[in-house]
Amino acid sequence: MTQLPDFLRPSGEGALVIDGKIAAGAVVEQARRATADLIARGVRPGLAVVLVGDDPASGVYVRSKSRMAADLGFHSIQRNLPADVAQATLNALIDDLNADPAVHGILVQLPLPKGLDSAAALERIDPRKDVDGIHPVNAGLLATGATARALLPCTPVGSMRLIEQTAQALGRSVAGAEAVVIGRSNLMGKPMAQLLLAANATVTVAHSRTRDLPGVVRRADIVVAAVGQPEMVRGDWIKPGAIVIDVGINRVPTADGKYRLAGDVAYGEALKTAGAITPVPGGVGQMTVPLLMANTIEAARRSLPA
Ligand code: GUN
Repeated sequence: MTQLPDFLRPSGEGALVIDGKIAAGAVVEQARRATADLIARGVRPGLAVVLVGDDPASGVYVRSKSRMAADLGFHSIQRNLPADVAQATLNALIDDLNADPAVHGILVQLPLPKGLDSAAALERIDPRKDVDGIHPVNAGLLATGATARALLPCTPVGSMRLIEQTAQALGRSVAGAEAVVIGRSNLMGKPMAQLLLAANATVTVAHSRTRDLPGVVRRADIVVAAVGQPEMVRGDWIKPGAIVIDVGINRVPTADGKYRLAGDVAYGEALKTAGAITPVPGGVGQMTVPLLMANTIEAARRSLPA
């Protein structure tokens, strides 16, 4: 084989490991250059992150988003609301951020505490500032193939980039490949299926009601697992040589009272059969925040006069 790109490395088992940190580094560097370019043209990309309540995992994610925004030189703001905030207060904050010309991207961290209507909050965000790519307008633009005008959800886009780059390195084509997406969420499974379809894969979306999930997964040249069930996808479900993207990040308790992070795929088993696989942690999750920055930069660029 010709030399591997730096984000792919041998595992010592059968599969190559897809290193998300290295792949994400290229996205960060491009974002850094694009930010400097926009600032030189008089626009500083602005990102507002809204955190409602005090869920510790959400707090960690939100801080990493705010930190990277600040590091790139963005105008970065974080708004914290208490868990018992009224919907009207959250709505009013979104209205203010929609109207603020210094803010190009708005992200409301999910899940929202019980009692709040997530769909209503997400639909209130100006679609041009919806850097999560989950407003129905952006979902519709993706579904109709108008991706140039849409903002696209970050983790599916990150998964797609890893798939395309890995396929290219292995001398394979995504077009015509059998792709199986496990999970049908609005933030991950559905947009992932649309992106694979746009790349001309033959796409199956599997979910909790799918009959014979192992049999469906065994057909797949490309597997994207996004179910939130630790190690549910077993190694003997994986077609030899398949490209496997593991989107799950599950906390699994350990014997010493701590926890470890596990994906949706039984990684040790899958290494023996897959062609290439993302680890957890250190896989596709690394792409999400850099691509959020890229979406914010794109929203800022589109705000410039033509
Ligand atoms: N919670 C978990 N992942 C995400 C994400 O990508 N965006 C938002 N807004 N909330 C999340």
